[in-house]
Amino acid sequence: MLIKNLIVFGTRPEAIKMAPLVKEFLKNQSFITKVCVTGQHREMLDQVLDFFDIEPDYDLNLMKKGQNLFGLTADIITGLRPVLEEFQPDFVYVHGDTTTTMSASIAAFYSGAKVCHVEAGLRTFNKKAPFPEEINRTITGHIADFHFAPTQESFDNLIREGIPEKHIEITGNTVIDALMHSVDRVDEIVDSEIETLKNTLDFTKRTILVTGHRRENHGEGFIRICEALKEIGDAVKEVQLVYPVHLNPKVQEPVYETLGNASNIKLIKPLAYPAFVWLMNKAEMVITDSGGVQEEAPSLGKPVLVMRDTTERPEAVKAGTVILVGTNKEKIVNETLHLLNDQDHFTKMSKLHNPYGDGNACKRIVAFMEKVTPVKS
Ligand code: UD1
Ligand code: UDP
Repeated sequence: MLIKNLIVFGTRPEAIKMAPLVKEFLKNQSFITKVCVTGQHREMLDQVLDFFDIEPDYDLNLMKKGQNLFGLTADIITGLRPVLEEFQPDFVYVHGDTTTTMSASIAAFYSGAKVCHVEAGLRTFNKKAPFPEEINRTITGHIADFHFAPTQESFDNLIREGIPEKHIEITGNTVIDALMHSVDRVDEIVDSEIETLKNTLDFTKRTILVTGHRRENHGEGFIRICEALKEIGDAVKEVQLVYPVHLNPKVQEPVYETLGNASNIKLIKPLAYPAFVWLMNKAEMVITDSGGVQEEAPSLGKPVLVMRDTTERPEAVKAGTVILVGTNKEKIVNETLHLLNDQDHFTKMSKLHNPYGDGNACKRIVAFMEKVTPVKS
């Protein structure tokens, strides 16, 4: 009997991290695999679907400009019902910690399907940071039947929460599968975004790549971040800070207002994955509050300053390639200048380090699922 899989995702990072899993399942004849996107993101999701050449079987197309957590959660649960009733999957795969992740797990559980959680077990143990992701992934972790933990630390967190060991597999993070698929190709493919970056940025300057979007940083946090970036741009003439700005209006507004005319700062639109990977590789260092970028940059040997007080990804911090700087203006400025001015410190932080996987996470997930019998609850 063929096993029916439904892979559900909705935002840019989920799409990047689920794309290689979709490809791996579609190659395997033991499964009928369908993809449902919630459309929690639209443009930023479509960029990923295009690059990985994935055409979803179902698209709930839910994004509203300036959406809120209440409406989005309700829309996802309600929107998934007819999909689950029509396809009747044995297994529903969700990723990480977004509102799509948590809501899709609940909907799948209501339908009687088993839930498989990819990137399971990440924790800060702080309900408010990241908000609402810490609670999203904890809820999902307690609904899920099978847990794909990227690292030993995430496995240990799940064991401490009482998840049976035989339901957890340590796989590495699928983001490394996506990165490895892309990093070699970006130098070979003809990509109009990469051409534009080559023509519009000044790579004789030292390049710092910046991203930021976290909800708990909205408001004052973002003002401090922008002031810090401005100060760095003013202080160091031979630097260019390149910031592809997330489309959330709560990010766009303060960033364009504060940094629109700042010296040595280039604000650009969110990049499709290949152009972003290309730029990350060209950059000397990265300043970010992103989860995914924190995992990718150490794998490319780039020092990372993380604009958060706490992280669910302690592995690279322990290895010395990531430093937490919060949203404290002085700390962001000082740590950046330290990296730019102290070659020994820079060299130590830029040692190539890959704690998040070896590029075979998706193969491990599929191999695990081949051994599981699909009995509905
Ligand atoms: C969401 C996730 C967060 C994840 C992030 C990745 C939740 C609660 N948050 O945050 O965990 O780290 O995505 O980027 O699940 N928008 C567009 N076009 C897009 C995407 C977003 O216009 O393609 C704008 C819309 O106005 C939208 C707003 O951004 O309403 C916020 O999107 P939302 O998904 O609710 O929050 P994010 O901050 O993107
Ligand atoms: N990314 C991208 N284009 C950009 C910025 C980021 O493709 O302009 C990719 C990045 O490589 C990483 C993912 O998006 O894989 C991270 O997404 P985001 O920071 O939005 O979310 P998080 O990982 O924090 O949930």
